[in-house]
Amino acid sequence: MGLQISPSILSCDFSRIAEELARIADADWAHVDVMDNHFVPNLTIGQPVVEAIVKASPIPVDTHLMIADPDRWAPAYAEAGAASVTFHAEAAHAPIRLARQLRAMGVRAGLGLKPATPVEPYLDLLTEFDMILVMTVEPGFGGQKFLDVCLPKVARIRAAVEASGLDVWVQVDGGVSQDSIGRCAVAGADVFVAGSAVYGADDAAAQIATLRSLAEKACAG
Ligand code: DX5
Ligand code: ZN
Repeated sequence: MGLQISPSILSCDFSRIAEELARIADADWAHVDVMDNHFVPNLTIGQPVVEAIVKASPIPVDTHLMIADPDRWAPAYAEAGAASVTFHAEAAHAPIRLARQLRAMGVRAGLGLKPATPVEPYLDLLTEFDMILVMTVEPGFGGQKFLDVCLPKVARIRAAVEASGLDVWVQVDGGVSQDSIGRCAVAGADVFVAGSAVYGADDAAAQIATLRSLAEKACAG
């Protein structure tokens, strides 16, 4: 799998959700941020709305659960039809059990890490996950400034994935833009979440193409 773009619909107009999803039909995934006002200081949507988004989306849905107690709640997002379910390491009580449960339900299992969470305790668990999500802002809001301090962690994850021979994707999420996407790609990310960069653009499809080409060029160079 090459480089993939996963626009976050957090910055879209939710009153026109089907049209907003159609704008990103050229992307690989629709990234849906679920926030519970416990794990993060913001509240978005839950399982019934994700189910509606799955029905309206022309592309697979990539759920990012910024919620407490994902052990209890994450399987509902697999049932809702998401193709990928990422829960946070800081919130999960039994991450291996939960990842295995998600995979058994036929979805990709992702592990999310906040900026200050080290990946090292999880490097021996790579085989349990399909993707590691590295937050490149503090989670909770779109439109924040990219944190370059998170890039060494991306590079360490990429090195560990290469050493393992596994096909684990490395996703970056937060502040990904035309300015920062190349640095993410060079560090080793291969799935790029971009919210405000895509939905803030007049032509979302053109922006997705530009982001993809900037990431590809950075990798090639
Ligand atoms: C933040 C979310 C991100 C966010 C990205 O907590 O996880 O997915 O929507 O938005 P931008 O690209 O605007 O930082
Ligand atoms: Zn996200």
